[in-house]
This record gives sequence, structure tokens and C-alpha cells, in this order.
Amino acid sequence: MRGQPQDFDRVLSSMCTPPHPVAREAAERYLATNPGDPATYQTVADLEDDAVAMLGDIVGLDDPAGYIASGGTEANIQAVRMARNRSVSSDPNVVVPESAHFSFQKAADVLAIELRIAPLTDNYTVDLGAVKRFCDEDTAGIVGVAGSTEYGRVDPIPELANIAHRHDALLHVDAAWGGFLLPFTDHDWHFGHAGVDTLTIDPHKMGQAAIPAGGLLAREDELFDALAVDTPYLESAKQATLTGTRSGAGVASAAAAMQELWPDGYREQYETSVANADFLVDALRERGFDVVEPDLPIVTADVSSELFEALREEGWRVSTTGSDEMRVVMMPHVTREMLSAFLTDIDRLRPTVNINT
Ligand SMILES: Cc1ncc(COP(=O)(O)O)c(C=O)c1O
Repeated sequence: MRGQPQDFDRVLSSMCTPPHPVAREAAERYLATNPGDPATYQTVADLEDDAVAMLGDIVGLDDPAGYIASGGTEANIQAVRMARNRSVSSDPNVVVPESAHFSFQKAADVLAIELRIAPLTDNYTVDLGAVKRFCDEDTAGIVGVAGSTEYGRVDPIPELANIAHRHDALLHVDAAWGGFLLPFTDHDWHFGHAGVDTLTIDPHKMGQAAIPAGGLLAREDELFDALAVDTPYLESAKQATLTGTRSGAGVASAAAAMQELWPDGYREQYETSVANADFLVDALRERGFDVVEPDLPIVTADVSSELFEALREEGWRVSTTGSDEMRVVMMPHVTREMLSAFLTDIDRLRPTVNINT
């Protein structure tokens, strides 16, 4: 085999992170199992039940229906599919905030459904007035984001749920990244807080499971039943997932990570991530950069393209928002030492690039 996987010591914008040691170990043990055929691979199917039950605890849902998907993209596509299949419209639409992850564009394309993109307020959350205006009798679903990819913002989920239900549409919450942070905040974001119908929460992001481990949950079993197809040559009779053969490694590692970390380990990580975000915000502001006030721990700052490129040349894996702000996501591998080294490079490189940096 050639090469080594790259390490994480300069990765600042990714939403992936090394799996927790118990998750890594569980992933290796279950590499050859297929939860897509639960009647044959029963032990991993049992682990999936455990994982879904723990996700239910995290998102305020007793008796959850759900499964461990390949990631947030699959979970979001499936949620849009549920909304579309349940709709009686011949020309259904789904209303999403401008901050929605690009997986909803894929969903719209694959499912041939119209995507209506509602603008944001100055605080980067969805404009409720626009959502109301965009909804009509063909609206099959509304999406709210709980932890947006660019700014870590949380949409007003209870209000969105009310709008959705007035139109007999489903409310889907995308908490793919935020779901393991939000239990330790005051936000109203989950099934226990509002009339949420479906929700994405990814163990392979802040949950510290191995890739691939996304999560899709629904309040009602029937939403999954509506997706199920017959599976004649498997031991099990029906399948509601999008992929067929699935990764037992993802399922087992999700179960192991949550068993180990929920709730205390995740709470500790939340506190560390928030403290690191505060540290970076203060340090960047002291240096005169414009920084967007964070909510969940993602720091975005107005850094010149010259400085940004110079930092990338130094090996820092950073990305920008759609408005060209540099974006740092406080994942578990992002430590105070990494951030200090990053700031040292900013101080060293700044005088070498454009004066207005
Ligand atoms: C809010 C949100 N939803 C969905 C996704 C897609 O997840 P995945 O890359 O696991 O498919 C992401 C990825 O960053 C995300 O931030």
C-alpha cells in the first residue's frame, strides 16, 4: 500500500475528525458485516438498534424510527424523499434556507422536486417571513438547519414546524453537525422541543464515530414504511435505506462512540470547543480582523485572500464561506496548541502579504 493517511494537525475547516479509540476499535471488528441485511448480520443489526435508541435520547424522541446512514447527504436525501412521497401534489416543492447544505440540491435533483431557497436574516438564520411567503399548497416539506455548515447557526425550529404543519408539510431538521453540541445549549431544536418530523444527526462528525456514520430519525415509523421496497433475495423482507449493502463499521463505531461519550464526554467536548472558539475570536479581534460572533463553535473571519492563500501554502487546511470569510470549525482534534501555532503563522505571514490584511 502506498502512502499514509494525512494527519489532522493542520486541518481547521473539516467537519470530520479522527474517531474516538473505542469507535475505531469497533469499526475494525465489524468491517465485514452488512446491516443492510439485518436478518443475516444480526449482531450488527442489534448494535444499530442500540445506536438509534441512543440517538433518540440525544434528540428527545422516545421509540425512534431510524437508521445509521452513510452520512448527512443520504439522510437529507431520504428526508426529502419522505416528504415528497407523502405529498399529494403533482408538483411538490421543499422550502430550505439559503444556509442549507448542498446535499439538498442533490436531493432536489435526484428526486425531481422543486427547491425554494429562503433568504437569511442578518443573523444568518432563515427569514421566517420569506418561508411563509414561499410555502403554498404544493409544499411537501420545510427544512430547518440546527448548526449551519458555514456559521454554526440554528434556525427557529418551533416556528418552522408550525408553518410546515399549517401546510400539511413535514418539518425536517438538519442537525448533521450540530446534533452532538446542541444538547448542551439553550436552543429549541429537536423532537422534544417542537413538531419535528425527521432529523439528521451524524455520528461521524461531532459524534466521533468512524466514517461512514450518518443518522436519520423520524417521529413515525410510517415515514420509513413509505420508503421501503421488497427485498426478495435477502433474508430480510424489506429495506427503507437508500444504499443496499451498508458499512457495519460505521454502525458499530457509532454505537461504541455514543456508549462511551453520551452525555458527559460530549458535554466536555462542547465546552472545550466553545472555549477554543472564544480564544480564537479574541485573538483574531485583537489583531484587527472582523469576526462574526459565533453561536455554535465555528469561527469565521474576514481575512484577505492573500493571507488566506499564504496560510494554505503553509499547509493549513482552511476553507472560506460563500462570502469569502475564513472558517475554522472547532472539531475535537482542533486544540489550543494548534490554534496558537496557526496564530503564530498569521503573525509571521501577515507582513509579507498585502498591507490590508
Ligand atoms: C449541516 C450539514 N448537513 C449535511 C452535511 C452532509 O454530510 P455528509 O458530508 O456526511 O454527507 C453536512 C456536511 O458538512 C453538514 O454540515
